[in-house]
Amino acid sequence: MKIYRANLIDTPTKDAFRVLEHGYLAVEDNGTIHGIYASLPDELRMFPLEDLGDQMMIPGFCDMHVHAPQYRNMGLALDLELLPWLNTYTFPEEAKFSDPAYAERIYRRFVHELWMQGTMRSVVFATVHYPATRLLADLFIESGLSTMIGQVGMNRNCPEYLSNTTEQVVKGIADLHNYLQQQSPDGRVRTIVTPRFVPTCSNDMLQAMGQVAKELNLGVQSHLSENKAEIAWVKELEPTSTCYGDVYRQFGLFGQQPTLMAHCVHSSEDELDLIQRNHVTIVHCPMSNMNIASGMAPIRTYLDRGIEVALGTDVAAGHNMSMLRAIQYAIQVSKYHYGESAGQTRFLSQSEAFYLATTAGGKYFGQVGCFNPGYEFDALVIDDHYLNFDHYTLEERLERYFYLGDDRDIKRRFCRGKELCEPQY
Ligand code: GUN
Ligand code: FE
Repeated sequence: MKIYRANLIDTPTKDAFRVLEHGYLAVEDNGTIHGIYASLPDELRMFPLEDLGDQMMIPGFCDMHVHAPQYRNMGLALDLELLPWLNTYTFPEEAKFSDPAYAERIYRRFVHELWMQGTMRSVVFATVHYPATRLLADLFIESGLSTMIGQVGMNRNCPEYLSNTTEQVVKGIADLHNYLQQQSPDGRVRTIVTPRFVPTCSNDMLQAMGQVAKELNLGVQSHLSENKAEIAWVKELEPTSTCYGDVYRQFGLFGQQPTLMAHCVHSSEDELDLIQRNHVTIVHCPMSNMNIASGMAPIRTYLDRGIEVALGTDVAAGHNMSMLRAIQYAIQVSKYHYGESAGQTRFLSQSEAFYLATTAGGKYFGQVGCFNPGYEFDALVIDDHYLNFDHYTLEERLERYFYLGDDRDIKRRFCRGKELCEPQY
C-alpha cells in the first residue's frame, strides 16, 4: 500500500466534481485504489506516505478515438471536408506505414505525445499494415500506457495502395490478439476490431470482422454518420439498411461486442434508438467536427437521452492531442447549440466535460477513470501554481487549468498504479 496526499479532484458522476482538499488516496500494491479520505484512517498510518503539497491529482485522460498514422498531419490539411480530405491527405500519409522504419519514427513520437499529454488510455486506429500495427503495440507495451489498437480493415472505394483483403485483416486481428496475450498478459495493451467505415468495407469484410470480434470476444470501433456526403453515399451503397448504423448491426459490429462509434454528428432518430438499444458508445470529437466542417454533434441531446458518450481528439482531423483542448472544444461546441436553440439545450458543464474525458472513457476499459475504491489507479499530478496566484477554489483552479494549462503542468503520470517515465522517441 502507498498513500498520496494531494488536492484530489474527480467525477464519479458527471453532475459534480468530487473535491478533497489535501485529501489522501491509498493505492494497493496491485495498482488499484483502496480509497480516498479527508483525513488519514488510523489503519493506514503504517504505510509510506508521499505529500504532493498543493498540487492537484486528477484521473488520467482517456482519448477514445485517435489515428496514430495521421500524427504527422496534425495541424495540416484542414481545408477540405471528410471524403476529399481522406483521398487527398490522409490515405497518402497512411500508405507510408507499409515501411516499418517510417512507422517506427512516427509511432514513437505519437506514443511519446500521449504520455506527454497525460492520456493514459487511448483507443487507436493504426493502418491496414500488420507489421506497423504490431510495432505500435510493442511501443505501447514499452511505454506503460494502456491502449486498444486496431489494424484497419478497408477493401473497397479506397486506393489499391491502401487496402487489405478480408483474409488479411481477419488474420491480422487474430495474430495481434494472440501476440498480445503473450506480450501483455494483463490486458494493458489489447487489440480492437477496426473496420474503417462502411464506404471502404465490403459486406464480406464487415461480416468477417463481426465474426472474429465475437469469436475472440473483442471490442469494435468505427466511424458513424460524421458527414452528410458520407451518409448519402452509405445510403447508395447499402440501400436496404434502415440507417447507416444498421449496416454495422447486420454484421455483428454494433453493440453485439462493446462498441465505440466516432462522431454521430447527423444520426437520425432511428439511428439514435439503435445506438441506445445496443449500448453503443458515441465518441464525440469536437475538434474534428469543426476542422473538417462536418457539423457539430449535439451531445447534450445524446446525454439527456441516456446514450453513453465519451471524448476523442480524432487526430489528425482533430489538430491537437491534448484532451484539455478536447474538453474545451466540447464545451464550446455545446454552447453553439445552446445559442442556436435559444437557450433550450443546456451547454455542458465543466464537470460533465471532464467526466467525458476521464470516467466515461474509462468505463470502456473496466473500472477506470475516477478514484473509486477498486478502480485502477490512473492519475496525473498537476502543478498549476503559476495560474493559482490568488484565492481560487480547487474547482476554479481545475477550470482555469482546462482553458489555460497544458502538458507542461503535468508533473507525474500513473497508469494502472505504475508511475510512467518519459518514453524515448
Ligand atoms: N472516416 C473514415 N476514416 C476517417 C478518418 O481517418 N478520420 C475521420 N475523421 N473520419 C473518417
Ligand atoms: Fe476518426
